[in-house]
Amino acid sequence: MSTHLTNLTLKIWRQEGPNSEGHFETYPIESISDEASFLELLDVLNERLIAEGREAIAFDHDCREGICGTCSLMIDGQAHGPQRGTATCQLHMRKFTSGQEIVVEPWRATSFPIIKDLVVDRAAFDRIIESGGFITAQTGGAPDANLIPIPKVVADASMDAAECIGCGACVAACPNGAANLFTAAKVSHLNLLPQGQAERYSRVEAMVETMDQYFGSCTNHGECEAACPKSISIDVIALMNKDYLKAKFANRKELSRT
Ligand code: FES
Repeated sequence: MSTHLTNLTLKIWRQEGPNSEGHFETYPIESISDEASFLELLDVLNERLIAEGREAIAFDHDCREGICGTCSLMIDGQAHGPQRGTATCQLHMRKFTSGQEIVVEPWRATSFPIIKDLVVDRAAFDRIIESGGFITAQTGGAPDANLIPIPKVVADASMDAAECIGCGACVAACPNGAANLFTAAKVSHLNLLPQGQAERYSRVEAMVETMDQYFGSCTNHGECEAACPKSISIDVIALMNKDYLKAKFANRKELSRT
C-alpha cells in the first residue's frame, strides 16, 4: 500500500547557462507518493513552477528504465543517490524519509561542463567512443550466430562490461574525474569477443589516449564501481590496462613493418 512523504525539501542547483554563476534554490514538496521515481518528483515540481509562471528546472532523462544513461543527478553528494546499482530514474521516494532535505546537483566534473541547471555536456564520452568503440563488420547477410563459438565465461564477461550505459556517474564520483571505468567497459566488451579482435590493439590505444585528453588519471579509489548504476566491476580497468600495455608493443611492431 502506498504511503506519502510530507515536508520534503529539495535544494536544487540552478544555473542559467554554461557561463553563468550557479546557486541553490530551495523548494518544499508536500505529499509525494513513495512510489514516485526521483524524476517524477522533479516533474511534479516543474509542473508547479510552470503553473506559477516560473522557469522549469532543466534535467536530462529519456528511457526512465535505467537503460539510456541520460539521467545524471548528484543526490545528497552521491551519484544517482543513496541506492547502489540504481540509476536516478529508478530511484524511488520510498528510499527517503519524510521531512528530509535532499540536495540535488549536476555531475561535478571539469570534463562535463554544465549546460543549464542539472544538465551537463557529456560529449567527451562521445570522443572516446568515436576513437575506437566499434568493430569491423563484413557486408552481406548476417552469419549464423553459432558459427563463432564463444566460451560462456567470455560471453558473460563481455556482456557484463556491455551493461555500461555511459551515464558518467563513474567520472562524477571519482576524486580525479577519471573515466577509466567507462572507457574500460567499452574497450572490454569488444576486446573480449572474437568480433572485436581485428581492432583490438588499435582500439585500446586510441580510446585510452583519447580518454587521457579529456579526463583525470585513475589512482584506484574505486568510487567509480560504487557509484556505477550497473555495478560494473573495476576488473575491467585491469583488462584495459593489460591490453593497453600489449598494444604499445603490438602496434609498434605493426608500424615497424610499414
Ligand atoms: S533516464 Fe534512461 S537511464 Fe535514467
